[in-house]
Amino acid sequence: RDLYGAARRNSRGVEFGVAADRDLMLKEVWSFRADEVAAAPIVDGRHVAGTTRPVLSPVDGTTRVGTVVEADAATAIRAMEAARRGFPAWSATPVETRAAALERAADLIEGNRDRYLALLAREAGKTLADGLAEVREAADFCRYYAAEARRVFRDGGTVLAGPTGEENRFRHRGRGVIVTISPWNFPLAIFLGQTAAALVAGNAVVAKPAEQTPLVAHETVRLLHAAGIPEEALHLVPGDGRVGAALVAHPAVAGIAFTGSTEVARIINRTLADKPGPIVPLIAETGGINAMIVDATALPEQVTDDVVMSAFRSAGQRCSALRLLYLQEDVAPRMLEMIEGAAREMRLGDPSDPAVDIGPVIDSEAKDRLDAHVAREKAAGRVAFEGALPAGAYAAGTWVAPTIVRLARAEDLTQEVFGPVLHVVTWKAGELDRVLDGIGATGYGLTLGVHSRIDATIARVCERLPTGNIYVNRNMIGAVVGVQPFGGSGLSGTGPKAGGPDYLLRFALEQAISTNT
Ligand code: NAD
Ligand code: ALA
Repeated sequence: RDLYGAARRNSRGVEFGVAADRDLMLKEVWSFRADEVAAAPIVDGRHVAGTTRPVLSPVDGTTRVGTVVEADAATAIRAMEAARRGFPAWSATPVETRAAALERAADLIEGNRDRYLALLAREAGKTLADGLAEVREAADFCRYYAAEARRVFRDGGTVLAGPTGEENRFRHRGRGVIVTISPWNFPLAIFLGQTAAALVAGNAVVAKPAEQTPLVAHETVRLLHAAGIPEEALHLVPGDGRVGAALVAHPAVAGIAFTGSTEVARIINRTLADKPGPIVPLIAETGGINAMIVDATALPEQVTDDVVMSAFRSAGQRCSALRLLYLQEDVAPRMLEMIEGAAREMRLGDPSDPAVDIGPVIDSEAKDRLDAHVAREKAAGRVAFEGALPAGAYAAGTWVAPTIVRLARAEDLTQEVFGPVLHVVTWKAGELDRVLDGIGATGYGLTLGVHSRIDATIARVCERLPTGNIYVNRNMIGAVVGVQPFGGSGLSGTGPKAGGPDYLLRFALEQAISTNT
């Protein structure tokens, strides 16, 4: 049951140990003909022409996954104008109709699970386990926001008490055209989560996916249309940051839902602040220098599992991933030995092989940035461990091996390193407050882990910092919709939390109507 007592169920997983289910899934994934996928801008349900480019897989750098027609600034403006025209009818559509469309979308996502798994593996380099979690999260977002919309936006408005002879109603309505701008690391779940929330709150949407992952986005917009979201209410503009900037600058923007880097969130904020016209709200969900604190009472085996999972799974390409591990000095040598041992066992390779733990990083730019960081740390003599890269057919893919960097001071890590690179520092008994001050001083506040069997330590960690998601004695990735509402504070985002009970409200206007009867 959720916070309000309503019965709710998240989507079902797949038991990899059940051969019949697993083999059927793998057959579907492996037989997928990727070159059928052709993405393009969709405005009022129709493709818009433009320059076509191939989408190449990060797995080997050469396999063509499909093609995309990129939007330009003119297409972006066309999509905004179409959304402006589509808004009134969709906004006047009953909440129940909007919610039911999202529920149909959830069913369609699950029905297309294997197609999505294949695309996520080839276009985004996602392992099957990560792809499955993402498909489930996407379906969960749809069902959760549908249920939340029915709770929050009750049709007809709430009648409030007032003086005799007066009727007072309070209701929510859509804001207008919401622009959703998403990253490549959750090309389905985040792309869809933002878009579904904005739509069910009664807004028209222009969705701009990351330039690296237009194919999954295109499939998803077609699926939402098939589920009953009107073509006039949802438009797609694949393209790079310049297209995002053109959308943000358009006068019809009534709100922005952005997920990505802190740097781009700042640029968007500046554009909105300088724009003439109404004050436009921004929901920004951004990055973090996420820390985990481990004290001498923690269980080493559990710490090992949770560190490896949080830092290296998904090739470290989760905003929630562990970047900075604080090990208490007395247990650090043993813990590090175990963590290195576990990291050494991780297998990099074709993400659609169920035995693979880590896929490629998203593109050569990301690889070059990570390689440069590791090279600098090596030159400083701080790299303690580096795993093995895949060879042969994958030599041209964008691979980065799990790497452990030993820092003398936590302050030496000054920015988010978005990949499978774990930084480790030690601390002494009695220094917990200094550690917490250091974490707070980064200004980020997305995820934080603590491993301890001392209740007072756990309580101190949880009370001291405003970090959005705190994980105690477990890993710190994979927030579940409606269970761990997700999002950070400070440099990590504006809130509210995706998959949480306050999210939809930020996509709606509030209106009070007082009638003298
Ligand atoms: P990014 O900021 O480079 O790009 C995100 C999106 O913004 C893309 O669609 C991009 O095309 C667009 N964009 C770029 N410049 C723009 C501009 N000037 N105006 C408008 N749009 C513009 O981020 P990324 O590399 O795609 O994703 C990785 C980042 O996302 C990491 O920092 C990660 O921590 C963060 N992230 C945060 C969350 C969260 O929930 N807090 C979730 C996933 C990823
Ligand atoms: N919501 C994603 C996670 O928790 C980013 O890992």
